[in-house]
Amino acid sequence: MSTRDEHAVSQRKTQPQTGDAVAITPNHDTVDDDSRDSFKSFTVPRSTSSKVPPVVPKLNSTYGSHDYWEDRFENEDSFEWLLSYEQLAAQIEPHLLPVSRILVVGCGNAPFSADLYDAGYHNIVNVDYSETVIANMQQRHLTERPQMEWLVMDMTDLSALMDASFDVVIDKAAMDAIMTKEVDVWNPHASVVRASRDMCRHISRILRPDGGVFLQISLAQPHFRKRYLLAWHGNPGADEADDSYAADFGWTYRAEAAGRPESSAGMFGHFLYVMIKSTRPVTST
Ligand SMILES: C[S@@+](CC[C@H](N)C(=O)[O-])C[C@H]1O[C@@H](n2cnc3c(N)ncnc32)[C@H](O)[C@@H]1O
Repeated sequence: MSTRDEHAVSQRKTQPQTGDAVAITPNHDTVDDDSRDSFKSFTVPRSTSSKVPPVVPKLNSTYGSHDYWEDRFENEDSFEWLLSYEQLAAQIEPHLLPVSRILVVGCGNAPFSADLYDAGYHNIVNVDYSETVIANMQQRHLTERPQMEWLVMDMTDLSALMDASFDVVIDKAAMDAIMTKEVDVWNPHASVVRASRDMCRHISRILRPDGGVFLQISLAQPHFRKRYLLAWHGNPGADEADDSYAADFGWTYRAEAAGRPESSAGMFGHFLYVMIKSTRPVTST
């Protein structure tokens, strides 16, 4: 996830190309306990439109704070994290039908959902826990994209949504925001393990049981992210088990490199995680 370098990057004379990945290092002038989790990577936003430059926090973990997003969305119109719809379409569209019921979690103010709509997928519900961004997005898209819904909702508690009511759930950089409070990737903070597990359980519940798909786009490498998507954290010995099926969530798991190669700048790649609801593990024949 980003740090204060988010802004510094956009101010450089020799700017990286949009979508490039850049390394983020902690501010050594302000090293404290929380700064350990600032060794993350971040991509230059594909498109940014703000009244003022984005507020870039000193601590990476600030991206896990509701107040941070509320403040940021007061001033920022549009910001695409990681990859655009265009960059992802070839990998996402095989999972979609024009009639698919799609949920986008942690939608923010990215153009992604509007681009998805314009590509012919109109049955989209977007949720974010920021009241400000949901009000802004609702207003912005009301006339041109009337079928798209915008709801204020915490993605770790989707109890307002009915069981099996979606075909596809898409998360682009939303679980990543939760992960900024991880502190130690090998021994993550209990609140992060709990929040990601709650999120996965709710997503699993609202997906149709026979083939519902959860697509997650992230900077996190499979070695670390699969521990969450397969519910290994807190399950002793689980990491020695099958890494293609999560019994806790009732879905198969696989990871792919995401986007076009030029978007990773040879340093950090993006990943697409594909989870498909199934009552049992896939058996190879
Ligand atoms: C890094 S931004 C990604 C925004 C957008 N998905 C994109 O790809 O550009 C993370 C988003 O997740 C939202 N978010 C973080 N935690 C959330 C939670 N628990 N429930 C709902 N939204 C959350 C933030 O408000 C923010 O809009």
